Amino acid sequence: MWGGRFAEGPSAIMREINASIPFDKALWRQDIAASKAHVAMLGETGIVTKDDAATISNGLDQIAAEYQADGVPEDWDLEDIHMTVEARLTELVGPVAGRLHTARSRNDQVATDFKLWVRAEMDRMDSALHLFQQALLARADEHAASIMPGFTHLQTAQPVTLGHHLMAYYEMIRRDRSRFADARVRLNESPLGSAALAGTGFPIDRNMTAQALGFDRPTANSLDAVSDRDFALDFLMAASQCALHLSRLAEEFVIWASQPFGFVRLPDSLSTGSSIMPQKKNPDAAELVRGHAGRVIGCATSLMITMKGLPLAYSKDMQDDKPPVFEAAGLLELSIAAMTGMIADSDFNPERMRDAAEQGFATATDLADWLVTQGDIPFREAHHITGAAVKLAESEGVALDQLQLSALKDIDARIDERVFDALSVGSSVRARSSYGGTAPAEVRARVAEAKALLAKPKPAEDK
Ligand code: ARG
Repeated sequence: MWGGRFAEGPSAIMREINASIPFDKALWRQDIAASKAHVAMLGETGIVTKDDAATISNGLDQIAAEYQADGVPEDWDLEDIHMTVEARLTELVGPVAGRLHTARSRNDQVATDFKLWVRAEMDRMDSALHLFQQALLARADEHAASIMPGFTHLQTAQPVTLGHHLMAYYEMIRRDRSRFADARVRLNESPLGSAALAGTGFPIDRNMTAQALGFDRPTANSLDAVSDRDFALDFLMAASQCALHLSRLAEEFVIWASQPFGFVRLPDSLSTGSSIMPQKKNPDAAELVRGHAGRVIGCATSLMITMKGLPLAYSKDMQDDKPPVFEAAGLLELSIAAMTGMIADSDFNPERMRDAAEQGFATATDLADWLVTQGDIPFREAHHITGAAVKLAESEGVALDQLQLSALKDIDARIDERVFDALSVGSSVRARSSYGGTAPAEVRARVAEAKALLAKPKPAEDK
């Protein structure tokens, strides 16, 4: 490709360190699409003849059919997907193939291809996350009134509903989808035509290629366009945060599925057994989702470190941008699928959750709140009185609502029998009816809103 200036070919080490074809062959569809848009523009603007443009375009179609059928050949001498396609094009249509590279460089080519790949991946993530949200909503609806202990510090705090808990993850995924959508808007400018770094003297039409490839507009600075990998970093940041959310949910499943908790039975399809302990059913998929989050975050870190010291414009370090993006995308897609299955097919045990909520004095706050509203006692004093009641219940080994009224009255004479209504876990969750609270009616309202939101057609982003 650059033989004119070089006396010797590359050493074996140079060939190996230089080759990106082992991984960038994943870009073949994007590479061919971008070349077709480019050559159509070259023909339209008269930079190449219409005949030559048609010959090249047909050759590219044939290469696409070959790759589709047989995969992309991996020849290190050809370095990357761009040269692999061009070499095959030369075999197919002869020297006219050399006109395709007029007014472009591999620098704008790789930026364009990679953006197209990341954009398609963002759309796949969005669809997968949409399905995951639907699974969350279905189970949240089903368990809008199933009581479980709510935790802070993993200590029983107040009763909540399982539906409420699952809807917390719905909210996280809603933000994840919006992060991918934001990133997609920023990504969607076409680098093609920036050439090596400075633009080109040929009378190209960058709007035409931008439009053909579904970009909103061409990039406004050629140096930035060939050296920008923000779009890949945006993708990896959004992916990291999403992986982090999935990892937290996975961790909850690991805890909930343990014998002392027993809140959930994982689907057989997403568990494994032990080769030595026949009774075991291990939450491997959940653990791997938790593990994969570390790797996704590592991918984001890797690319940030690759980029942080690079002067403008393109440097070969940037060839290392693709493996972390490909790896993170694969890991996250699999993690979303695993968690969608886990949510959809797990067997929750509401009785067990309710029993757990009834232990640990989860309604202590309800007693304090009752003293405030019914006894007109300042909250701090109510908190103190409640503490004494909890201490008594603990020493007698009973739940708060099993204490004798006389014992409660000994602690504070203002307590009367109506307090028992407030002390059950059911009345506790029903009382938490503030907007966004855990009351079953509130949870059902949030689920209904979310279902309506998901059913709305997305704003035009299929470009
Ligand atoms: N294989 C290269 C990459 O993936 C393509 C761009 C090469 N550009 C260059 N000036 N050597 O980044």
